[in-house]
Amino acid sequence: MHTPGTLITSRPLDEYCGLFGLTRAALAAVPGPVLDCPGGAAGLTAEARELGVTVIATDPAYAAPRPELTALAVAGRDRMAACLAVAPERHLPAGQLCPERYLRSWDRARRLFAADSAARPERYVAAALPGLPFADGSFALTLSAYLLFAYPELFPPERQLAGLLELVRVTDPDGEVRVHPLHDGAGRPCPHLPQLRSALGEHRVASEIVRFARPGDGRTRRVLVLRKARRWGSGPRRGAS
Ligand SMILES: C[S@@+](CC[C@H](N)C(=O)[O-])C[C@H]1O[C@@H](n2cnc3c(N)ncnc32)[C@H](O)[C@@H]1O
Repeated sequence: MHTPGTLITSRPLDEYCGLFGLTRAALAAVPGPVLDCPGGAAGLTAEARELGVTVIATDPAYAAPRPELTALAVAGRDRMAACLAVAPERHLPAGQLCPERYLRSWDRARRLFAADSAARPERYVAAALPGLPFADGSFALTLSAYLLFAYPELFPPERQLAGLLELVRVTDPDGEVRVHPLHDGAGRPCPHLPQLRSALGEHRVASEIVRFARPGDGRTRRVLVLRKARRWGSGPRRGAS
């Protein structure tokens, strides 16, 4: 069911790529299924299918009847439109300050989500962190946008740690989990990130903060990358801290 206080957003695949420092080619090269948690009303699952990539989206809101979910997604879009009207520079790169164009990309993603979730309901699983109904190591890549750090009132430190560990559990030991953003809805950075990373380490989960230039204006974007510790250091390192 819908979690009060959270927005159901409808980001398209290219926006997801921009959030996580991915490209379409990198996504297409992932050697197994991808998990999107939370999926919201994103277009990722539908659009990735065209790239030959299987994305499973999971979100407690998928338990809601379809008309209710659609209405929540439209409300999420309207809330974003209101935020863009007040401070577009907070949400859009300096070189792309066109709220109408951005909102059109959400409208398209929402329509793709509606059609794909009706046609392939098995790819949209109703579930909530920190307990997901997937076997250990089911996914080659797990993406988590705008939840575990964005809503600290829902995910205080202990629950946030449990959520991150659950994402690692369902991800293949040779794969990785990517989480963004690392700040709350007001843009405040997570104050206990060092302690959280240390607690992850105690659970044999290696963490890395990858910084990359945001498409459009080059502003630094940070992604938390998690892997089961046993293979840490075997892959290429990218601007790690
Ligand atoms: C702001 S949206 C993010 C959706 C998508 N990842 C994106 O970036 O557009 C937050 C989503 O988290 C979902 N949510 C709320 N509580 C959750 C939980 N405990 N586990 C997983 N998803 C949850 C909400 O239903 C909502 O769809």
